[in-house]
Amino acid sequence: MQPDLVCFNPACRARFGITEVLYNCTTCGGLLEAAYDFSGINASELKTTWRERRMSNDPLCQSGVWRYRELFPFLAPEDEHNIITLREGNTPLLKAPRAAEYGGLAEITFKHQGFNPTGSFKDNGMTAGAAQARRLGMKRVACVSTGNTSASMAAYASAGGLEPLIFIPNGNISYGKLAQALEYGAKTFQVEANFDQILALVRVLAERLGIYLLNSINPFRIEGQKSIVIEMMDQLDWQVPDWIVLPGGNLGNVSAFGKGLREMYKLGFIDRLPRLGVVQAAGSSPFYEYMLDGGKTPFHAQQHPETLATAIKIGDPVSWPKAQFEIETTNGVVERADEQEIADAKAVIGACGIGCEPASAATLAGIRKLTAAGVIHRNASVVAILTGNVLKDPDYIYRYHTGELKAPDNSPIRATFGNKPVLVPNDADRIAELIS
Ligand code: F0G
Repeated sequence: MQPDLVCFNPACRARFGITEVLYNCTTCGGLLEAAYDFSGINASELKTTWRERRMSNDPLCQSGVWRYRELFPFLAPEDEHNIITLREGNTPLLKAPRAAEYGGLAEITFKHQGFNPTGSFKDNGMTAGAAQARRLGMKRVACVSTGNTSASMAAYASAGGLEPLIFIPNGNISYGKLAQALEYGAKTFQVEANFDQILALVRVLAERLGIYLLNSINPFRIEGQKSIVIEMMDQLDWQVPDWIVLPGGNLGNVSAFGKGLREMYKLGFIDRLPRLGVVQAAGSSPFYEYMLDGGKTPFHAQQHPETLATAIKIGDPVSWPKAQFEIETTNGVVERADEQEIADAKAVIGACGIGCEPASAATLAGIRKLTAAGVIHRNASVVAILTGNVLKDPDYIYRYHTGELKAPDNSPIRATFGNKPVLVPNDADRIAELIS
């Protein structure tokens, strides 16, 4: 059986060819997902194969995404030459006792997606989306982005000979990320609108000009992002943690995690499902609000999302139906954290010598609240996903540590764990005095 694109809406389930250029079901408008015939899969043999591939110099085996390609076989073998790999994935699991204590846990493990080639988890999905773009013979690719997606898409598109077109909310993207997009050669448009408005705009342009859309509505991005949890389980020797906690913006990543986990469970790679915890920024938390009553009232987009964690400043997340399904299937939870909580958690992660960008720190901030509320037990095994690199928002960091950081409503954020640089004269005696 060929892989298919299938409508995610359980009342529809319309099927489409895997090479159709579609982002939504043409019957009901629902989200699409890739579906496979996994009947030939032997979990224990594949676990061995995947371990052996870590020793190989073959680029596809070195990639922490394509090493696991049997679980997202949307490319026919003759199409694999379309894959562009920058050796994405291969991100570490890191223990952090100080962060564990802050989060109310005996132990915490971070999976740090900021170790990716362009600095975020987007690379796991982008290598897959870019491969599909090339396989379809697309020449131009586009995305709207709060930063990480644009840097990632620019890199993979340019590496693969595609023309990257990037649309960003003017003034709401970190300088480092914009710099990456420019350096990787993307044509970059700064639009006077927010993320949700620009996504609608880019969808119109993509349709009109035949440009391939590489936002997380693209089902192949989601397939690539499944590799984050596959690699995680491989690194944990297939011992399933009690919880996986991640930040939620457009909700593509939690959708990918849920799908990957369900597939691994069904195919016998793991013997249970972990619980998924999604944390949103309080000023940008439409999914949190929606799930408060178990998703019984209709989903309401937030018109004016606000947070300094710009990566998750999204009021109308496209993947909420998938995210809801994955939260329900894994008996998961949705939490929110305010600006002070995110900033302090971020400084704690930094003080562990690890560091991350603001949205990633929402995980630890959320965990702290969930342990205090007794939802996550102190002795639970918890893997928190740090989605992006500490260098994403250096300005935020400097302001926090010097006590100058302000929330979007202009209220001051306390430098609870501030670490100010000290101005000193060029005088060894004076400096020695200060040090001791
Ligand atoms: N963390 C980081 C560092 C991100 O860049 C994003 C999304 C998220 C978390 C949220 O992930 O959307 O799958 O729920 N950034 C997008 C971008 C929107 O344009 O780079 P999600």
